[in-house]
Amino acid sequence: MSATLPNPVGLLSEHTRQEIDRWVAKFPPEGRRSAVITALREAQHQNHGYLSTELMDAVAAYLGLPPIQVYEVASFYSMFETRPAGRVHVSICTNISCMLCGSDRIVEAVERHLGIRTGESTPDGKFFLKREEECLAACNNAPMMMVDHVYHENLTPEQAVKILDAVE
Ligand code: FES
Repeated sequence: MSATLPNPVGLLSEHTRQEIDRWVAKFPPEGRRSAVITALREAQHQNHGYLSTELMDAVAAYLGLPPIQVYEVASFYSMFETRPAGRVHVSICTNISCMLCGSDRIVEAVERHLGIRTGESTPDGKFFLKREEECLAACNNAPMMMVDHVYHENLTPEQAVKILDAVE
């Protein structure tokens, strides 16, 4: 007699499953793998900012994919965190255009304001200041930062701090 293994899909909230279903419906049946990025984004959001192994396994089970295909995506894209991190993700682009327009001053101001360095989270678990970010494709409005997928462009250090202060 074989033991029944726990079903990892149960870790996904109903809202997360609905969102995954919505994206899966956009692809042909053999293209469920195309929904991995969105599924991971939803699972990360559900888990307040990072993906645990169990959640990645749940996404794999829900999409009917081998877990390795989900781990590969989660570890490749900088938008995913696989270790505990603050709820609000802050990414300051430090690539060439932003660097030439003063991104180092933005990083410095934000680090000072939040009291943390890049790669760290605030002690209250609210903000996660991601490691220095590569080009986020908004070079024409450099310097810029992304706060939970929302772009803020043509920034000054003062504006960056104000934007973070306004985050609930
Ligand atoms: S270099 Fe910063 S958005 Fe491209």
